[in-house]
Amino acid sequence: MHRQYVHIGARTLGYLDSAPGDRGAPVLVLVHAFPLAANMWEPQFKQASAPSAPSAAPPGWRLLAPDLRGFGGTPAVDGDLENASIDDYAKDVIDLLSELGIDRAVMGGLSMGGYVTFAMLRRAADRVRGLVLADTKSGADTLEARGNRRNVLALLDREGPSGIARDMAPKLVGPTTQTDRPELEAGVRRLIKQQSAAAIRGAVLRLMERPDSTPQLASIRVPTLVLVGRDDAITPVVESQRMADAIPGAQLVIVPKAGHLSSLEQPEAFNAALSEFLATNF
Ligand code: MLT
Repeated sequence: MHRQYVHIGARTLGYLDSAPGDRGAPVLVLVHAFPLAANMWEPQFKQASAPSAPSAAPPGWRLLAPDLRGFGGTPAVDGDLENASIDDYAKDVIDLLSELGIDRAVMGGLSMGGYVTFAMLRRAADRVRGLVLADTKSGADTLEARGNRRNVLALLDREGPSGIARDMAPKLVGPTTQTDRPELEAGVRRLIKQQSAAAIRGAVLRLMERPDSTPQLASIRVPTLVLVGRDDAITPVVESQRMADAIPGAQLVIVPKAGHLSSLEQPEAFNAALSEFLATNF
């Protein structure tokens, strides 16, 4: 899967696209987690072209996965940390859709990607046809979580992205993956190490400042799928249960044998649930 790029003014945005130029197809946007990049969605894109395995979307759908600013193929924006907001990421995704001539899409994200999805709903609800909220939560950071973020920034200053990779990779995948597929955790570690310190710093600041999206949940009026790894230690099942209870008509799927990165750890189960949701609701 080759990265695509658009240039908007002086900015460049990198993204993955399963059907470049297909203007008529229904679109599913998948926004990546922290501190990863669009290529964490490779199993969803790969299986879109492997007929034997469950695809992430029914035939004819177009998958888009943006690299948030600084991550993957999207350069960081100089001097944008002063008033850094999670909405900056949502604005970039909206700009990407506009540039590609896409009015509306099913918006999905995992963890930080879910926070971006909530920001999309706040900024441009009319562009959102449906929601996929994977391993995420609606609440803002607690005081304790903000303290942890400051520790992450200190680690980043001391050891750079390698230190973050060493610290975070084991927490992102569940126990089954750690035992059965240690190479997957190593792959996650590599992916984190490829990200720039500027991207990671920008994301930590945005995560710390993000607003509480819980009050939004009851007013969501689009089909919503909530997915979570059964062993997710970062955004546990109870958070997803709360979101699914609060969003009218939302469907909850718990992915067995998966931790926080359910889409990577158990792509077949994840894709099957996602594809069925899309086929049933759109
Ligand atoms: C993520 O996976 O995106 C992060 O765990 C989100 C967070 O730290 O809140």
